[in-house]
Amino acid sequence: HKVKMVIDREYPIAQVDERIYGSFIEHLGRAVYDGIYCPEHGSADEDGFRNDVKELIRELNVPIIRYPGGNFVSSFNWEDSVGPFNERPRRLDLAWRSLEENKVGLNEFTKWARSAGSDVMMAVNLGTRGIADACNLLEYCNHPGNSKYSDLRISHGYKEPHNIKTWCLGNEMDGPWQIGHKTMEEYGRLAEETARAMKIIDPDIELVACGSSYLTIPTFPDWEAVTLKHAYDYVDYISMHQYYGNQKGDSQDFLASSDDMDQFIRTVIATCDFVKAQKRSKKDIKISFDEWNVWYHSNAADDDITKNHPWQVAPLMLEDIYNFEDALLVGLMLITLLKHADRVKMACLAQLVNVIAPIMTEAKGGKAWRQTIFYPFMHASQYGRGTALVPVLSSPKFDTSGHEDVTAVEAVSVYNEELHEVTIFAVNRDLKKDAEMTVDVRSFEGYRVLEHVVLENDDLKAENGPFCERVAPKQTSQSALDGYIMTSTLHKASWNVIRLG
Ligand code: AHR
Repeated sequence: HKVKMVIDREYPIAQVDERIYGSFIEHLGRAVYDGIYCPEHGSADEDGFRNDVKELIRELNVPIIRYPGGNFVSSFNWEDSVGPFNERPRRLDLAWRSLEENKVGLNEFTKWARSAGSDVMMAVNLGTRGIADACNLLEYCNHPGNSKYSDLRISHGYKEPHNIKTWCLGNEMDGPWQIGHKTMEEYGRLAEETARAMKIIDPDIELVACGSSYLTIPTFPDWEAVTLKHAYDYVDYISMHQYYGNQKGDSQDFLASSDDMDQFIRTVIATCDFVKAQKRSKKDIKISFDEWNVWYHSNAADDDITKNHPWQVAPLMLEDIYNFEDALLVGLMLITLLKHADRVKMACLAQLVNVIAPIMTEAKGGKAWRQTIFYPFMHASQYGRGTALVPVLSSPKFDTSGHEDVTAVEAVSVYNEELHEVTIFAVNRDLKKDAEMTVDVRSFEGYRVLEHVVLENDDLKAENGPFCERVAPKQTSQSALDGYIMTSTLHKASWNVIRLG
């Protein structure tokens, strides 16, 4: 393939909001218990949290972590998770049919997240609960003192308010699986009234209304239109969620899924702007893509656990072991998010540890290790900060079983003005043919190729494990710059990070 790209600092998409490199930890499976928290582990700190896991999270440089769910939040009583440990109840988690012991609650989690370098994006329960409980939780977290719930926090040993800035108004309330699932009219009204009340308590917070759980859910995009018809003036973001899987065993088509994600984002933007026009509003609603990943490997095992082995503490659930092609799709999804940097201001790789996660720990306190998808996320988080530039790209196209006009190469670049560096992220998603990419870097005179890092593997199904890393990045010399023209070889099925500076 011959591919051409032009990058020019005069053609920005937008400043990348670093919060697009957010992630998510739900009280689900072994994410919290036996994941980030394991008092018996050799690396545990005085609060019982694993330092080795925290180190891996730091490698990913995650600015914000969504918590405590997910589906879990829709039957969660936050009060159960605070106060003296020996008084905390054991509760049935209806979402995952697990037993929640509340050994880690919102105070411990917030303290831990900050120590990992992350802010918390807190979700309120709009499934089984409503406005009053959301307000009480916000008062507990953010109000300085001298009121019932802020004093309760202080009595629990947290004198300073947590000052949590970003709040999700429920989770996937459009999904029939959600505890307390709502119609769009019901949710729109509830989101509006909850948002209005919460902003009275703390006008500095930012609110995320639930959008659709996936592109093909029948209520999309009416859900967004109706929700925003009610809540437009009080919310700042609409959420998007999307997971992909190669259930058909058609890898070429699987790698085209990021085109659907692109289409989904475009349609949500159009819907937001339609409501903006109806309201004669001056405000833009931004996107919080707060759940995205590959998720399918563990589905059958999870169904078995919820159906036949319920009410376990920290069961092995959603433990997808990712392969190389999954890492390619994660790279393509990151490129898609960056291409919409003007509108997608937050995003959460779902999730972070053990549950559909880049970081795994062996069961019962064993080794922590990096999945294949760890690497594209790490690269984007590390080098994708600055200004996203318009990707003027011409690539050959092909059709797959489920998609038309799929580009062989997808790429985007990010210019970091402070560091005087520009990084191109590129995936050659053609499984058969290498590509020769010519990049016109006209506005980056005097720059040199700092490195060209590649993630590739002959086996699309190659996986990593605690003691073997088959999929890991390597340095190559596949890029050369001559004047302002760079030529790069992008091997078939490869994730490429080309840094100039
Ligand atoms: O991330 C796993 C689950 O996926 C979340 O709990 C839910 O919000 C989504 O359906």
